[in-house]
Amino acid sequence: MDNLTLRPRRLRRSPALRRLVRETRLSVDQLVDALFVVPGSKVRQEISSMPGVFRLSADLLGEEAKKIADLGIPGAILFGIPEKKDEKGSGASDPQGVTQRGIEAFKKAAPETLAIADVCLCEYTSHGHCGIVERHEVQNDATLERLGEVALSLARAGADVIAPSDMMDGRVGHIRKRLDEGGFSQIPILSYAAKYASAFYGPFREAAGSTPAFGDRRGYQMDPPNAREALKEIRLDLQEGADAVMVKPALAYLDVIRRAREAFPETVLAAYNVSGEYSMVKAAALQGWIDEKRAVEEILTGITRAGADFILTYHAKFAAKEICYKR
Ligand code: PBG
Repeated sequence: MDNLTLRPRRLRRSPALRRLVRETRLSVDQLVDALFVVPGSKVRQEISSMPGVFRLSADLLGEEAKKIADLGIPGAILFGIPEKKDEKGSGASDPQGVTQRGIEAFKKAAPETLAIADVCLCEYTSHGHCGIVERHEVQNDATLERLGEVALSLARAGADVIAPSDMMDGRVGHIRKRLDEGGFSQIPILSYAAKYASAFYGPFREAAGSTPAFGDRRGYQMDPPNAREALKEIRLDLQEGADAVMVKPALAYLDVIRRAREAFPETVLAAYNVSGEYSMVKAAALQGWIDEKRAVEEILTGITRAGADFILTYHAKFAAKEICYKR
């Protein structure tokens, strides 16, 4: 025993040694915050299932954008919750729409910070589905037309990145074409390429009032058991012109992130640490059952170690303050 030569513990002996040999490092540069914008003014409404996350009116969104900028977070994804919803999700492409006004306010307050526009119809449709519904089914190609209009309208409002989250076939190619024709060939598309039909979107749907009125999203979002299919979805989106792709959710899909990283080494890969993943941590932390800071650090590190280049997360401000700058 006294001549045990291989002792991995030697490099774990002190914080400085551990810092030196750390394989994965978190940086504020890899964080994207997520914000909900609502009509009206002076509205700051906490989402009950997401403690610490607020629905903000456009006037207050500017302050939030400044906070994000001051923390050094590169950007935020914006979700609008309109006053009125209808069959076709008309609000989504309204030049005066809630998201468009939110983007304008955000960019005015923090011109250097990225406003990433989520492109989908579900927050704007009366039935809560991500597209045009006919014969009780979401119609793929009719939806593409709407998504193109929505993307163009968000680009006109000043979005820096367009992020389609609807999971219709061919939407990246269609949106790319519409953006290019509209004079926005410089605007990148971050595609929610492998988006699963997940229970972990529950709190988001409460926040956005976007729970489908009938059925579910399994006819368009991916089936959770499938990983090879995620690689196909990513490949197709890249072929259609996606500039970066996303896996969503993150935690139950770390293997998918890893496989995507290996199958597409040149591709910019994002992961969405979704609402339910946030709520679980917050709920347990509020009960005193887990240490929030350590849990968040471990989660963001795990997603990074799996292969994500950047992470969309409701923990972004907390992580920027408490984790990324701590050393
Ligand atoms: C819109 C959209 C959703 C999320 C992001 N964009 C909801 C859904 O697909 O039901 C979920 C984000 C989250 O849960 O944090 N389609």
